[in-house]
Amino acid sequence: MKAVQVPKAMELEILELEQPVIKNSDDVLVKVKRVGICGSDMHIYHGTNPLATYPRIVGHEVAGEVVEIGTNVKNVKVGDHVVVEPIRYCGECYACRKGRPNVCESLSVFGVHEDGGMRESFVLPEKQLHPVDSSLDWDEIVLAEPYTIGAQAVWRGGVQDGDTVLIQGSGPIGICILKMAKLQGAKVIITDLKEERLAFAKENGADVTINASKEPVGDRVMEITDGEGPNVVIDAVCLPSTFELGVELVSPAGTVVVLGFDERPSAISQLPITKKEVTIVGSRLQTNQFEKVVSLLNERKIKANGFISHQFPLEQVKEAFEFVEKNPDQVRKAVIVFE
Ligand SMILES: NC(=O)c1ccc[n+]([C@@H]2O[C@H](COP(=O)([O-])OP(=O)(O)OC[C@H]3O[C@@H](n4cnc5c(N)ncnc54)[C@H](O)[C@@H]3O)[C@@H](O)[C@H]2O)c1
Ligand SMILES: [Zn+2]
Ligand SMILES: [Zn+2]
Repeated sequence: MKAVQVPKAMELEILELEQPVIKNSDDVLVKVKRVGICGSDMHIYHGTNPLATYPRIVGHEVAGEVVEIGTNVKNVKVGDHVVVEPIRYCGECYACRKGRPNVCESLSVFGVHEDGGMRESFVLPEKQLHPVDSSLDWDEIVLAEPYTIGAQAVWRGGVQDGDTVLIQGSGPIGICILKMAKLQGAKVIITDLKEERLAFAKENGADVTINASKEPVGDRVMEITDGEGPNVVIDAVCLPSTFELGVELVSPAGTVVVLGFDERPSAISQLPITKKEVTIVGSRLQTNQFEKVVSLLNERKIKANGFISHQFPLEQVKEAFEFVEKNPDQVRKAVIVFE
């Protein structure tokens, strides 16, 4: 079996490994069909993901077909098309007991802390696999994991029908948040520095787009919201300055959602938080969002709509990483195709 491994930072290899086998009664053997390349895979490759350890088989945006099941598997059968829920957790710590296993103190993410899905086949317990309508195209369902990131951010923001939401950044994560916020019935204002990304956001339902390199975001947002400010600000740029802007612009009683891993501090005083009684929340990975996203996919309520801009066969994975690295402006989402 072939597998894509990052042995150490700035190296990428295709290895020949032994075929994985079912060991536990709840295990499922999956033949991989598509794996999305995510910013965090690029960070692992570049050595800039503080959470990753090496050597590592990358890939956490994974879709495949079930080829064998353990004796006690109940919810997945041979032939099912499945998407991977990439989190493994203890089930006992405070976060797990609170129903928030995505921030488990011993969280292990498939493709980050443990070997992931960029290989011809893998074994995972059935609870980490979600069957999807098998008539859906692989290129539609491989987006399930990034959609769950969007769903989580919208849930953490408490976005409701009729809210005005400001999403900063129209990268893949901003687009996933946009799709979920629109399904929730929100009016969405979205920013970016690139016209092409804003055009794609518009095609995906953004009500207003703002080019932050050409227009003052704050003035425009206040004008659009009649001076009230957006009710929810979701930061998918994740810079110290975009966090600051979010707290400045959010409406009274509003919520600011951050998704970043940037360790640099933001300069935010207590005043706007107290005066407007702002809620500031983090959003990491997802909890219980796969069920929702799978239903939306099955009902054709979320569609890729041109999201996957590039496909590479497994043999060209190095070229794929190089292409994504050198052409960030051209790539919406690149996927590795397994046959
Ligand atoms: N918390 C989580 O679970 C989670 C999961 C995935 C990604 N992330 C984070 O989300 C962020 C976005 O991910 P992505 O893959 O979409 O990244 P990306 O780099 O592809 O997209 C960021 C976008 O922001 C735009 N941008 C840059 N500066 C801007 C500014 N000042 N104003 C407006 N737009 C600006 C860029 O042009 C780009 O289109 C990253 O920081 C990533 O680490 C968090
Ligand atoms: Zn990802
Ligand atoms: Zn736990």
